[in-house]
Amino acid sequence: MSDKPEENLRRREARYDRERRVRLKVGEDVETLEEVFDGRTLMTVMHMLNTGRLKELQGAVKAGKESRIYHGIDPKGVEVAAKIYLTSSAIFRQGRLKYIRGDPRFKDVPRDTRSLVDQWALKEFKNLELAREADLAVPKPIYVEKNVLLMEFIGKNGVPAPQLRDVRLQAAASWYEKIIGMLRTLYDKAKLVHGDVSEYNILVPDGYPVLIDFAQAVTVEHPEAKEFLERDVENLNNYFNGLNVRTRSFGRIFKIEK
Ligand SMILES: Nc1ncnc2c1ncn2[C@@H]1O[C@H](COP(=O)(O)OP(=O)(O)OP(=O)(O)O)[C@@H](O)[C@H]1O
Ligand SMILES: [Mg+2]
Repeated sequence: MSDKPEENLRRREARYDRERRVRLKVGEDVETLEEVFDGRTLMTVMHMLNTGRLKELQGAVKAGKESRIYHGIDPKGVEVAAKIYLTSSAIFRQGRLKYIRGDPRFKDVPRDTRSLVDQWALKEFKNLELAREADLAVPKPIYVEKNVLLMEFIGKNGVPAPQLRDVRLQAAASWYEKIIGMLRTLYDKAKLVHGDVSEYNILVPDGYPVLIDFAQAVTVEHPEAKEFLERDVENLNNYFNGLNVRTRSFGRIFKIEK
C-alpha cells in the first residue's frame, strides 16, 4: 500500500469497482437466466458456474423449439456452446421415444419427462463423442449435466458459423461428396446414423462442413436405422439437386442388408 491517502483511495475504489462488476455480472446472469429457465435448469447452470465448468454464460444465440443454444466462456477464456434442452413438453416425449427405444444403449426409457430430457442430452453427448472418435468434424463435447450440454463453439466472438443453407457454395458437387463421405464414416466407423441431416444441421465455419445436432442419432443396430439413413440421404439429395448437383441414389451410396 502506498502512504499517499489519495492513491489508497483510488486503489480501493478501483478494487470495489472490479468486484462490483463481477458481482453484477453474476447478478445479471441470474436475472436473465431466471426469466428463461425453470429452477432445475438454473441450478444446473449455477452448479456449472460454481464448479468451474463455465466462467460466464451469455445470451442465447439460437432458440429452437426444444432447445436453446447459449454462448459461454470457460475458465480458460475459450468460447463454448451450451445447449439447454427445455423440459416438460409432452410433444417432446412423443416425438423422441422412437429414437431412444431400439437403441441398445438406452434400454430403460424413463417415465418422467425430465429424466427423458436428461437422457436426450446425454445421448447427444455420447453421439458426439463417438463421431469425434471417428475423426468427424462435429463440435467437441465437453461436459453434460442433466439437461445442459457444453460443447465446442462453432463460430467466433459469440457469432455461430453460418448454416449450410446460408452459404453460397463454390463447387457444390464436391460439398455433396464431402458430406456423403461424412455420413459414410459416421456409419462405418462411429456406427451411427444421424437421423436429422439437413442444410440446417450443417455449419460452415471455415470452408468445411461441421455436422451438428446429434441427439436423435441412433446406433446402426436400431431397427429403423436404415430408414433414418435413407431419409438423411434424401434430404441431402433434395438440397443439392436444387443446386444442380447430380446426386446419387441411396442404394448406390450405401449397400446395406435389411
Ligand atoms: N456447437 C455450436 N456452436 C455454435 N452454434 C451452434 C452450436 N450448436 C448449435 N448451434 C446453433 O444453434 C442452432 C440450433 O442447434 P441444434 O440444431 O443443435 O438444436 P435444435 O434443438 O435441433 O434446434 P432446431 O429445432 O432449431 O433444429 C444451430 O443451427 C446453430 O446455428
Ligand atoms: Mg437442429
